Amino acid sequence: MSRLVPPPLSLYLHFPWCVRKCPYCDFNSYTLNGQLQETAYLEALERDLETQAPEVAGREVISVFMGGGTPSLFPPSAIDRVLAAARRHLTFASDVEVTMEANPGTIERGRFAEYRAAGVNRVSLGAQSFDTRTLQVLGRIHSPDETRRAAEELHAAGLTNFNLDLMYALPGQDVAAAMADVESALALKPTHLSHYQLTLEPGTVFAAQPPADLPTDDTAAEILAVCGARLAEAGFSQYEVSAYAQPGRQCRHNLNYWTFGDYLGVGAGAHGKITRAGDDLDAFGHGDLAAGAHGDLRAGSHSDLSARTHFRDPGDAIIRTTQSRDPRRYVAAPTATRTPVPEAQRPFEFMLNALRLIDGFEIPTFEERTGLPWETVVPEVEQLLTRKLLEVQGPRLRTTIVGLRFLNNLLLSFLEETPQTTGAFGLSTAI
Ligand SMILES: C[S@@+](CC[C@H](N)C(=O)[O-])C[C@H]1O[C@@H](n2cnc3c(N)ncnc32)[C@H](O)[C@@H]1O
Ligand code: SF4
Repeated sequence: MSRLVPPPLSLYLHFPWCVRKCPYCDFNSYTLNGQLQETAYLEALERDLETQAPEVAGREVISVFMGGGTPSLFPPSAIDRVLAAARRHLTFASDVEVTMEANPGTIERGRFAEYRAAGVNRVSLGAQSFDTRTLQVLGRIHSPDETRRAAEELHAAGLTNFNLDLMYALPGQDVAAAMADVESALALKPTHLSHYQLTLEPGTVFAAQPPADLPTDDTAAEILAVCGARLAEAGFSQYEVSAYAQPGRQCRHNLNYWTFGDYLGVGAGAHGKITRAGDDLDAFGHGDLAAGAHGDLRAGSHSDLSARTHFRDPGDAIIRTTQSRDPRRYVAAPTATRTPVPEAQRPFEFMLNALRLIDGFEIPTFEERTGLPWETVVPEVEQLLTRKLLEVQGPRLRTTIVGLRFLNNLLLSFLEETPQTTGAFGLSTAI
C-alpha cells in the first residue's frame, strides 16, 4: 500500500527575460536583446500548460507564482492571456494566491492596476537595496526612488499584499547601512519581506570577479540578527531562513514548496514536482518512471541515486519535471523531461525544504509526502537531536538556532553516504 498522499498543488510560470542580467544572479534569465518574442512565448506556455494539465486533473491549484527573469516585462494583456489559459486547463481554488514578480525599473504608471485586473493579487518587488551606489554595483536598472514609486503604485492599485526582496551583506555594506535598507523597506508598508544574504553563485560575474569590499561572515551574522530583531519589532515574524511576514501574510506558494508540496513547472527552465499516489495508474506513463537520471537540486548529478529506484506500488511516485532552459529551445519544443525521485533521495529532498521553516514540520507530513515510514530517518534525527541541531517543539520537529546557521551541513546527514554523493551538492540557502 502506498503511503503517499497528494499534497496541495501550485503552479509556477517562468518568464526568462530581463532588461539587463544582474552580475550576481544565477536564475534562468537572459538580457533581452531586441524585441520581446511575446506571442511565440505565450503560445509555448499555453502548449506546455495543455500538455501538463491532465497530470493534475481533478486537483485544485492553491497558488500561482509568475517568476523570472522579469515577468513585468510582459504587458498586462500577456499576463491576462496566460492566466486565462491556466484557468481553462486547471481548476483554481476560489481563494487562489496569484503572485507576480516585478522589477521596479519596468513599472509604468497604471500598470499594476491592469495586472490586478488580469488576476494578480500579490506582487513581489525586487528592491534589493535603497542605496544608490549599491544598486549601481549590483547592476540594477532602477533607483531607490523608482522602487518607492512602484510601491506607491501598488498601494494605489489596491495590491497592498506585496513582498519586497532585499539583499544584505552587499559590497561595502555595514550593519547601519543594512538597517537603513530595512527601514526604507518598512516605510513602503509591505506585508512580506524577503531578506537574502548575497551569495556568490557559480557561473555568475560576481563569482568570477568577487567585489573587493564584501562584509565578513561576522558582519553578515550581525546584520541578520539586528535586522531580524527590527523586523520582529515591526510585526514581521521570520517563518523561513530568508522570509518574514505579517500575521497571515506568509507566501502560500513558497510555503507549499517548503512543505514538499506539488507544483506544475511551466516555462523555460521551469521545474515541477508531482506526486502520484496509489491506484490512478493512467496519470503517468510507466515508461517515464524508468527513464531519467537527473534531479532538481541546483548542483550535482543524482544518477547514482536513481539507479536504486524502487517503488512500493507501481502507481506510486514522485515525479520531477524539467523544461529546456534556453528560451528558443523551449519555444520550439515545450515538452518536460520527467524523472522519478527515488525513495532513497526523498528524505534529503523533504528535509532540504521543510527544515528551512522556522516551525519545522510534523511527522505525518513527512510520511504522507515522502511515502516513507518515519523510522527511515530516526537514526539521523536522533543524532541531530543529540547534537542540538534539531529540537522537538510539541508535535513538531525543527532546526535550532545553531542548526539554522549550519543548515547545509545538517542536511548532509540525510544524504546517502556514498563517495559520489556526499558533499557533491551546492546547497545554497538563497532561493
Ligand atoms: C528572480 S529575482 C526577482 C525579480 C526580479 N527579477 C528582480 O530582480 O527585480 C529573485 C530574487 O532573488 C534574489 N537573488 C538573486 N540572486 C541572488 C544572490 N546571488 N544572492 C542573494 N539573493 C539573490 C534577489 O533578491 C531577487 O530579487
Ligand atoms: S535578479 Fe532579477 S532582474 Fe536581475 S538578472 Fe536576476 S532575474 Fe533578472
